[in-house]
Amino acid sequence: MNEIFKAIDYRHTKDMYRSVYLSSVNIPMVNNINNIATAVIALIGAIMVAIGADIPGFYLTVGSLVAFIAFLRQFSRPFNSISNMMTMIQASLAGAERIFQMMDQKPEPSHASALWRSFKAEDGQYYWTDGKDVKKVLGDVKIENVDFSYFPGQPVLKNITLYAHPGQRIALVGSTGAGKTTITNMLTRFYDIDAGTIYIDGINLKDIDRVSMRRSMTLVLQDTHLFTGTIYDNIRFGRLKASDEDCQKAAKIACADKFIEKLPQGYNTVISGEHSNLSQGEKQLLSIARCAVSNPPILILDEATSSVDTRTERLISKGMDNLMMGKTTFVIAHRLSTIRYADCIMVMDHGQIIERGTHDQLIAMKGRYYNLWTGKAELQ
Ligand SMILES: Nc1ncnc2c1ncn2[C@@H]1O[C@H](COP(=O)(O)OP(=O)(O)OP(=O)(O)O)[C@@H](O)[C@H]1O
Ligand SMILES: [Mg+2]
Repeated sequence: MNEIFKAIDYRHTKDMYRSVYLSSVNIPMVNNINNIATAVIALIGAIMVAIGADIPGFYLTVGSLVAFIAFLRQFSRPFNSISNMMTMIQASLAGAERIFQMMDQKPEPSHASALWRSFKAEDGQYYWTDGKDVKKVLGDVKIENVDFSYFPGQPVLKNITLYAHPGQRIALVGSTGAGKTTITNMLTRFYDIDAGTIYIDGINLKDIDRVSMRRSMTLVLQDTHLFTGTIYDNIRFGRLKASDEDCQKAAKIACADKFIEKLPQGYNTVISGEHSNLSQGEKQLLSIARCAVSNPPILILDEATSSVDTRTERLISKGMDNLMMGKTTFVIAHRLSTIRYADCIMVMDHGQIIERGTHDQLIAMKGRYYNLWTGKAELQ
């Protein structure tokens, strides 16, 4: 890995040197050519002025020479600007190339063959429909014998089986790289599984339209993305039709109301996206409020309680608890205290579930979880 990084870094440094060299050579070079041209013309002109009178057709007055040099300067000015602009144009082209790469990305396969879609009805509940039947989204998740690898031959998940009944709280713990986030990527179908089956409410995940399925679940990630706009706009992103009152209610559920009310213009305060002056914890509270406003039956919380102070952490876990009420929830946490009351805790290692059970059962088992809880082992 180190070698690969070194090679890439070396190439980057070389290209960087070249680009700085070319852009700094360009402008002085054009200026110098202009200056030399002016000097040569001035010299020839001076000779013509001095001795031109003796040679027929070679004479030039001083006035004409000065005028000629002035025009020459004006003539060369656009070329100077073009050379200045060349550097900018090159940089913009490099940027444009990246944008085009992005635009050329193939969209996810068509949903034309999908049988089931989910929708949110007037009553605020989510339903499945295949055009004939309509049934409520309960949030019953079954993952059976699932294998997955990001690259062929390097399995990341091996024979994963787990169930989450409606309203249950399932916790995933394990060291870095164990495959916790990968399981959630399977559920949201950001990737397709290699083997096994995933069912939601008894429907095979492959038969559900991706876009509408994602509408019935929400993710709270550690790195919250906010955009420039008011607090209302940022919360409403969870459900675009939500009214101001809905947003306020959601903020209350998320325990975000206290800090929002302290802001200069309350809910109408404009925050400036990624560089906003909100703390990491406050951003997380906003993202919980965002989930509360969309209120989907399935919730995925990935490492949401790290890198905040204890007071904010308490607020966040209270907000999460409110949010989780009555929903099927998958919690990935690096702090064991946050998952203590989960209905079932899965301890993962190298893509496999090595222990499962409630907190008390796992403690009684005196295995990996026991060692983590008692501090004999650490989550790295
Ligand atoms: N997009 C990806 N492409 C290729 N490999 C990936 C990708 N995402 C994760 N991996 C690999 O899959 C394995 C499992 O990663 P995963 O993100 O699921 O771990 P995790 O348990 O969530 O860890 P953490 O606690 O650090 O979040 C790791 O070895 C990782 O390098
Ligand atoms: Mg992860």
